[in-house]
Amino acid sequence: MVWHSVLTEGIIGIFDITILYNSTLHGFVPMSVSWLHFVFWNIEVFASLDIIFFQVQIDPEVKHKLKLQALLYPGLQVIDTSLPSHRDNEHGVVLTRDIAIKLVSLFFTKDEALPRAMRKNQHMPLESRHLFRFVNWSTLLPDKYRKDHEYTEPVLGKSAYSLPALMDPRALPLLADDARLQHLPRTYILTCQYDVLRDDGIMYVARLQNVGVPVSHDHVEDGIHGALSYMTSPLYLQLGLRIKDMYVSWMDKNL
Ligand SMILES: *[C@@H]1O[C@H](CO)[C@@H](O)[C@H](O)[C@H]1NC(C)=O
Repeated sequence: MVWHSVLTEGIIGIFDITILYNSTLHGFVPMSVSWLHFVFWNIEVFASLDIIFFQVQIDPEVKHKLKLQALLYPGLQVIDTSLPSHRDNEHGVVLTRDIAIKLVSLFFTKDEALPRAMRKNQHMPLESRHLFRFVNWSTLLPDKYRKDHEYTEPVLGKSAYSLPALMDPRALPLLADDARLQHLPRTYILTCQYDVLRDDGIMYVARLQNVGVPVSHDHVEDGIHGALSYMTSPLYLQLGLRIKDMYVSWMDKNL
């Protein structure tokens, strides 16, 4: 029951913003914010899709303010596709790096050249250089996750791609500068160890904490991407149930 009421309130809360927000984005976002915030498991269960996470940023045109945001194994950037979690989970359960790249690139274009360039991590234009400090995992990731991976500077301007959408912080929350991030509400982030998207979430925790946003972070050591979808038939994974409990108990305390 708790689960239901939390979910419903969440959806209603987000819908207001979706309508406003879509009007500012004008066809740029093919799916509404609400889908991704609170019906995330429906996407995975019914459409088998896992998509970059659209977050409502503080935007002068958005009148409604969120009380909180809860992100479960979110994807928050696409400019660096060679994070330690991408390397460690290249052949990950459920979500391989290749599938993640394919799905994410479909959000922006059908042109195969984008995923091709993303696989090489050479898809960003020269004018995106200033954004890479926001995803600089050599400083934003704790040692535990960085392990012995070596940071390499971005290779820019190698592909014909210059899609402004790839640099838009409204779609890719990690690309927002500190001045924007500091206005975000109390945040819950859950990350899974065996997930290509792990480091997006962990870097976001660091960035939000750096600007004083209250963040609760649960890291699931035996977690896999999308685990919440597998708490029901036919899999009934305990892992999914544990994640649901963590998420719901945080919502209970903070909603
Ligand atoms: C990332 O951080 C390292 C270490 O502080 C620094 O040397 C490097 O220039 C940074 N790169 C970018 C793109 O921010």
